Amino acid sequence: MSYPYQIESYEAYQSAWKQSVEDPEGFWGKVAEHFQWRRKWDKVLSWNFRDPDVKWFEGGRLNITENCLDRHLERYGNYPAIIWEPNHPDEHHRVLTYQQLHFKVNQFAHVLHNNGVRKGDRVCIYMGMIPELAIAVLACARVGAIHSVIFGGFSAQSIADRLQDAQAEYIVTCDGAFRGGKDIPLKSVIDDALIACPFVKRTIVFTRTRTPVSMIKGRDVWWEDEIHKVETLGNPPFPAVEMDAEDPLFILYTSGSTGKPKGVVHACAGYMVYTNYTFVNVFQYKPGEVHFCTADIGWITGHSYIVYGPLSAGATSLMFEGIPTWPDAGRFWDIVDKFRVNILYTAPTAIRSLMAFGLGPLQGKQLDSLRVLGTVGEPINEEAWQWYNEHVGKRNCPIVDTWWQTETGGVLISNMAGVTPSKPTYATLPLPGVEPLLVDEHGQEIKGNNVSGNLCIRSPWPSVIRTTYGDHERCQKNYFSAYPELYFTGDGAMRDENGFYRITGRVDDVLNVSGHRIGTAEVENAINMHAGVVESAVVGYPHDIKGQGIYAYVIFSEMHGDEELTRRDITSTVSRIIGPIAKPDKIQFVKGLPKTRSGKIMRRILRKIAEGETENLGDTTTLLDPSVVQDIAKGRLTH
Ligand code: WT7
Repeated sequence: MSYPYQIESYEAYQSAWKQSVEDPEGFWGKVAEHFQWRRKWDKVLSWNFRDPDVKWFEGGRLNITENCLDRHLERYGNYPAIIWEPNHPDEHHRVLTYQQLHFKVNQFAHVLHNNGVRKGDRVCIYMGMIPELAIAVLACARVGAIHSVIFGGFSAQSIADRLQDAQAEYIVTCDGAFRGGKDIPLKSVIDDALIACPFVKRTIVFTRTRTPVSMIKGRDVWWEDEIHKVETLGNPPFPAVEMDAEDPLFILYTSGSTGKPKGVVHACAGYMVYTNYTFVNVFQYKPGEVHFCTADIGWITGHSYIVYGPLSAGATSLMFEGIPTWPDAGRFWDIVDKFRVNILYTAPTAIRSLMAFGLGPLQGKQLDSLRVLGTVGEPINEEAWQWYNEHVGKRNCPIVDTWWQTETGGVLISNMAGVTPSKPTYATLPLPGVEPLLVDEHGQEIKGNNVSGNLCIRSPWPSVIRTTYGDHERCQKNYFSAYPELYFTGDGAMRDENGFYRITGRVDDVLNVSGHRIGTAEVENAINMHAGVVESAVVGYPHDIKGQGIYAYVIFSEMHGDEELTRRDITSTVSRIIGPIAKPDKIQFVKGLPKTRSGKIMRRILRKIAEGETENLGDTTTLLDPSVVQDIAKGRLTH
């Protein structure tokens, strides 16, 4: 298999980019020829960013799983599709060929169908990183159901919120998940969530950890039993349900600057074409190579670059159940050597956490199979970039710094491995089809080079967010209203003398903690649930490993016992309401918060104090009570 649309030189990139913005329909129409359609599209693109209303490949009919599985069978049926490495290094790994994966997805599509799942139904998937997670995702796509994967670190409350928002009537889960030294009781978390979700008709439970679970009659069934029923019928194939190009493929919840997480909706055809195109071009994937993306399928990175991008390209995708530091900090390197991994795609936070262990864990590791390294999720600092380049890539592997978002579906700004130039800490240039621009706070475009501003995108790429589930207006407000006719990313960026982009981080009230997006308002709401809390304000601060840490200023009514215990109570409240990923790193008790006369909290000041700046706090004269600032600065937590 080779990819006729793989770009192999800088000149080819430049001309592809030019063509893609001058004639997007011609450009993407040609790429889309290389997929399997039940019916070709009538029109490649129609759009406006006002509503927004974006349609790619309108009139086209397809099923993404025929593109990820069926079409590879004849020639590549015995190729490994998924290699799975378990959490425990002593447990045997698994390899699923395209043939085997196809078989299992068909089986499980029958299971879903037998349990009532139909086209358009929402199915929530809450599982650990096992092949059955990928199988469940693909089986949903095969029956035309809309999957909504929820990361295993979210709490029962977060799951309930998402189930209600999506009105998901079906759940696929596991008894539990292994992650490092921990066993996470997934089904029991689901049981807690379902107290508030009586509309859920069925949960299908895969056995992974053999943790005892309560199975409720009429609602809960075992994955294995349901598969057995399909086997008794002789495992008939499951004919893929024909989908419209613009039918929703999945919902993935993500945090914004206000309120509850929103359900980002991606559409079948555009998402397929763009994740495939970017997978092949950014990583310069060569047939037969092993691609190891260390993300969890619960995040967009896993959706796009473990499942859909690689599989639609007939690639071998390595899935790892565990964490980089267990049983020791050499685990990634052992996996790279064990499977002769060619492409390693991970997050700066993982690199920094491994750097902290020194070079010991790298000793004796070959790492000579590596050809390309990638990073994603947050800005990578120079030090981490150099370490990755020197000690992992041995100065021999291009590093792709891929900037994108849940809403963009695939990578928008990145160098292409070995094809376009790289520059440490820079995502560099837009991919074909992507027109970035910088604007000032009034929405005026900032032209020229050596400038910074708010990062926007001018026109649609195939996997742009279509809507936020159940609330199109929210999508409009969030992404398309700050600057009329533009998609606003929420990120700030600078453009250097070469026109290369460097993403500097969020300019809204969204934190990026270990590459995970968390809204400050969400964390505040969770803290405020604690009975003793009067009010709180949350900001980010620079954190050596996590990138950003969570700093909470809390007004507490009456302190019983000591502050440390109260801190733990607040932390456990946040864990309950959102999940362990949103736990504040620091909680400072304060008497008041810096507010303007109109009652707005001046976060700028709180951010400065959290960053360690206690002297030059800027203009505080507009504050209702400027004296609180000095108290807060004095009480700043240093550890
Ligand atoms: C936010 C999106 C995209 C998959 C993982 C995160 C930040 C992402 C980079 C990068 C600098 C980056 C941005 C973006 N971000 N990649 N290469 N350099 N920042 O997805 O949870 O939707 O978060 O992550 O701030 O807006 P997400």
